Amino acid sequence: MPQLTCVDPNEQAINVAFEPGETILQATHRAGVDGILAECGGGCSCATCHVILTSDWEGTLDAPSLQEADMLSFAVDSTPQSRLACQVQLNGQHDGLTLAVAKRQY
Ligand code: FES
Repeated sequence: MPQLTCVDPNEQAINVAFEPGETILQATHRAGVDGILAECGGGCSCATCHVILTSDWEGTLDAPSLQEADMLSFAVDSTPQSRLACQVQLNGQHDGLTLAVAKRQY
């Protein structure tokens, strides 16, 4: 099963196994990663599933949708590498990649 590494707000690195086709939110919640609140349950309407990707992800993802980009504008300390975990669908290309959970979700 492919895996990614998730650094939680306490700087703890956690290996997260995922099934291709699920979202970062689904995989990290199943693995018990702290700090991703996901208050809207994955509906792209809260920005409390803010994660920050590394440059290794470049070229493996489509650009954020207009709705995701709009919600990211409300995320605390948003960066150009910020994404909403509920909107990023994982595939086999993402095996071995790293991301960080935003230290503050609001
Ligand atoms: S869970 Fe609310 S925007 Fe992702």
